[in-house]
Amino acid sequence: MVEVSTSILSLKQGEEAETFLNLEIAKTDYIHIDVMDGKFVQKDTYNKMRENAEYIRRLTNLPLDIHLMVEDIETAINVFEVVEPNIITFHIEACKNEEEVMKNINRIKQAHARVGISVKPNTPVEEIYRYLPYIHMVLIMTVEPGKGGQTLITDMIQKIEKIKKHIDEEKIEVDIEVDGGINLVTAPKVKEAGANILVAGVAILEAVDYKVIIEDLKE
Ligand code: DX5
Ligand code: ZN
Repeated sequence: MVEVSTSILSLKQGEEAETFLNLEIAKTDYIHIDVMDGKFVQKDTYNKMRENAEYIRRLTNLPLDIHLMVEDIETAINVFEVVEPNIITFHIEACKNEEEVMKNINRIKQAHARVGISVKPNTPVEEIYRYLPYIHMVLIMTVEPGKGGQTLITDMIQKIEKIKKHIDEEKIEVDIEVDGGINLVTAPKVKEAGANILVAGVAILEAVDYKVIIEDLKE
């Protein structure tokens, strides 16, 4: 089954309440919260995303899918666990060593969230193979993390195929999420390659009808 996670990174100020309620009616499977610290990526969305996540938690029953683009993962987990996220994903590039990766995995489990690990476009997906038995999701970045509205890097299709083949061969059960430049043109390609959770920001927020675009992305 394919699920859709709506990124609210490109949401205009002042449209929050209406958008969150409409996304719930349109049955997005998750709201994707892009947490940026101004260090791991240039932009800093930390406080805004914290406010948004708390607001969504009060206003809706939508599951939260937290994407940490931060250097200090431990602090971010402490900050975001209060909104009871369904998924917390961190970047492998932000971890010093294997011990730190395992520490983050266990800390997220302690917060009763599912664990995701993300790889940037230039990071070989093999780098996360050894952690797959301990996590729930792999997030393949299909653009350079940092901003919404970019174009999917087509080489990433092969990366998705590669990890899909590996998890099938090893009979590991992990979700494959893709993030960046997902729209009606690219969605069929990433699904065909093996992705089963699609993050989409601009494609959904700029659509006329959230329900229709979410259904079309899944189809
Ligand atoms: C990029 C973020 C993405 C981004 C997706 O750093 O991780 O979640 O907001 O936005 P679109 O779908 O507009 O590419
Ligand atoms: Zn994201």
